[in-house]
Amino acid sequence: MAGNWKMYKTPSETAAFFEKFKPLVANSSHCDIVICPPFVDLAAAVEACSGTHIQIGGQNLFWAKEGAYTGEISPEMLRATGSKWVIIGHSERRHYFGETDESSNKKILAALESGLRPIYCIGERVHEREAAKTHHILETQCMGGIAALTPEQFSQIVIAYEPVWAIGTGKVATPEIAADAHRCIRNQVRKAFGVDAAAACRILYGGSVKPDNIRGLMAQPEIDGALVGGASLEAVSFASIVNF
Ligand code: PGA
Repeated sequence: MAGNWKMYKTPSETAAFFEKFKPLVANSSHCDIVICPPFVDLAAAVEACSGTHIQIGGQNLFWAKEGAYTGEISPEMLRATGSKWVIIGHSERRHYFGETDESSNKKILAALESGLRPIYCIGERVHEREAAKTHHILETQCMGGIAALTPEQFSQIVIAYEPVWAIGTGKVATPEIAADAHRCIRNQVRKAFGVDAAAACRILYGGSVKPDNIRGLMAQPEIDGALVGGASLEAVSFASIVNF
């Protein structure tokens, strides 16, 4: 269960969140718990979670090791904060910042080289779904992002299916729609890396996940977890999703 805080919270708000959140998930050992705050909150988040099973991740990185890239963060820098994960290819990064399958692929390879585990996001826009292009989009994005990975590298990746029309809109995909998309993605993984890799691959659903819809989603065997935006900002709400 992963939380994507997007551009919310300061370091002191981060510390306050974890004070409340930690006791609520202290006994939740059935899943990995990952929170991805803004870069400036990573130190506070890692410190607050030291000695717990809560893991911290970034929301982005740049693929170069270092250099003249104003405003960017390298994989090594992210790793040095104590972060273990990184979200790559989120639709907001694709649509507002021009990221593509190719740039995601470079970022995934660089993240893996530094020992970070990527959460690779893919998902169709509403007009693509309406034009019956969902499977085609998912296949293209999936294969584009994971191109050139070895099976060993692929085993470190988590894929998040996030239909763009469901993100931040309150319009959650039905469990059946999400499961169909997950099957399509798993099928691509099977073609690329074989049956065992496909079975082992964790695919998260993201897009308006809330405490009151998580159970229905998780009842689908295809859905392995959730990537949660808005509902991860509040401790009680994210804890009730973790403890669905
Ligand atoms: P949401 O965001 O839960 O607020 O819809 C999900 C995401 O963008 O990862």
